[in-house]
Amino acid sequence: MEQNIYSMSIKHQPSPEIREFLTCYLLEAASDGPLSLSTLAAELARRTNGDLQPSEDDLRAAWARCCERGWLACSGEAEPARLTPEGKAESARLREAHRTDPHGHVEQATELLFANLPAPDEGEVLDVGTGEGRVARALAERGYQVLAIDVDEEAISRAREQEDPHSDRIRFQVADVRDLARSGARFPAVCSSYVLHECDDPAEVLAAMCECLAEDGSLISLDFAPNLAAYVSGAGRSTFHAFRALAEGDWRHLAPRLGLKGLEYRVLGCGSLVTARRNSTAAPRHSPKERRDS
Ligand SMILES: C[S@@+](CC[C@H](N)C(=O)[O-])C[C@H]1O[C@@H](n2cnc3c(N)ncnc32)[C@H](O)[C@@H]1O
Repeated sequence: MEQNIYSMSIKHQPSPEIREFLTCYLLEAASDGPLSLSTLAAELARRTNGDLQPSEDDLRAAWARCCERGWLACSGEAEPARLTPEGKAESARLREAHRTDPHGHVEQATELLFANLPAPDEGEVLDVGTGEGRVARALAERGYQVLAIDVDEEAISRAREQEDPHSDRIRFQVADVRDLARSGARFPAVCSSYVLHECDDPAEVLAAMCECLAEDGSLISLDFAPNLAAYVSGAGRSTFHAFRALAEGDWRHLAPRLGLKGLEYRVLGCGSLVTARRNSTAAPRHSPKERRDS
């Protein structure tokens, strides 16, 4: 399939995490009636609009784990399995263990954003995918000059219409960060909030954000964390966007290729905040193809 976003996102994520996702889904799917291994893949794809397409091995392992632990009653891989009372209890436990406030993390992320920004007098900050300008206005309030861009003309119009006492510090522009990167514009800090999971090619957009960084500049990206907490807290359940976000393993894989150093990946509730700096020696390689093939 051309757009297998899920498997791209988790390409570099360790399998145990994937299997925990699957256990959660599997138990939930089984609560609707007997389930067979042969139809499980299609069932998961249906429930997630095609975003969740685990490998055969991961599926089989999650299924076997549920049977071994007595969460599913099954008499063989070919037979449909039923959820047991223990499986029902485990499903409830998983949910509870990973329940988080889906919005509480934004406050923490905002504090970390400011902790990782250079001083306001070091130059204009780039807010990529500003939407209606939420982050740009928070930055302006703290004294930053901001170039706030978005590909969506309507979002930028709405952003411009918002009343804001610090609007003179913000330049709202309709622009794609990939074009801005090609124009040679460089910033001491580039931030984005809930953008990468929306992109068809997040690695390409991320590469462009890195190209927009001046030497030693700071990159700060907030997005969903593609983890079970995101799923349970509701971010994944409604839209499954959580699966399209880059996982920690993806970031660690991409960082050296994009000329980033000092990467820190923090999970905050259903979100993840990534901070890194532009390496002063290595130029980012703008090569989405390399990401796909490697
Ligand atoms: C979910 S919204 C987030 C808005 C805002 N940052 C916030 O946190 O409220 C993601 C935005 O990213 C924008 N976007 C996606 N790809 C982009 C790109 N290549 N360059 C600029 N903006 C982009 C979309 O148009 C959308 O408005």
